[in-house]
Amino acid sequence: MSDFQVINILDMIESVGEDGVKSILSEFSCQKNPEIENFVKNSAVDFAKKKMSITYLVVDTTETVRAIFTLTHKAIELTNVNLSSTMRKRIQRHSKLDEGTDSFNVSAFLIAQFGKNDTYSTEENISGDALMDFTFEVLTAVQHDIGGGLVYLECEDREKLLNFYSSEPNQFFKFGERYSEEDNIKYIQLFRCI
Ligand SMILES: CC(C)(COP(=O)(O)OP(=O)(O)OC[C@H]1O[C@@H](n2cnc3c(N)ncnc32)[C@H](O)[C@@H]1OP(=O)(O)O)[C@@H](O)C(=O)NCCC(=O)NCCS
Repeated sequence: MSDFQVINILDMIESVGEDGVKSILSEFSCQKNPEIENFVKNSAVDFAKKKMSITYLVVDTTETVRAIFTLTHKAIELTNVNLSSTMRKRIQRHSKLDEGTDSFNVSAFLIAQFGKNDTYSTEENISGDALMDFTFEVLTAVQHDIGGGLVYLECEDREKLLNFYSSEPNQFFKFGERYSEEDNIKYIQLFRCI
């Protein structure tokens, strides 16, 4: 197993230049989720430059990108119904219940993109759980600096993905679902406390 390192795309741009980063990212492939591949190849650099979201590159010892995750923050509405009392208490640390709508409006860290480069087999690449650990290392550092405590993501309604996010090491909970305006794809909304 290779050693992996996490690099903020802005630091990568500083060290090898924008064209250098785009060339490195052109090797990224994610057939199971073309939206991620398209984002990595065509938007990650611009979004980072505009500070709309920051992509982190998980690279091996040859600086090949093995996986990525993209972070930003977003306001979300969590309905109070179905929350366990432990979860409710944790959410109340970060926001107040709106009694009119029986929901919490909270600012959350958003994992906007999350995926591995499928040029490499499962055996030779980083595991999804290790990628999530890297993601939480960054989020914990951000939390230390500015506070916040909820992490949010949306994923397509696919059993294996939902199993991955709700598994014991990752511990995300479903709190809602939505359909995208452009192509009517159903997304499951998940959150986790840090
Ligand atoms: C999500 C991910 C990081 C998990 O990594 P992992 O825990 O190491 O697990 P694997 O890559 O071995 O995938 C586990 C299973 O889920 C399936 N799977 C993964 N992503 C999938 C997707 N987008 N759609 C459908 N099935 C998917 C895999 O085919 C595999 O199935 P198998 O057990 O029958 O072989 C990784 O699968 C990945 O990068 N997927 C593609 C990108 C993606 O969809 N990201 C989530 C965006 S919300």
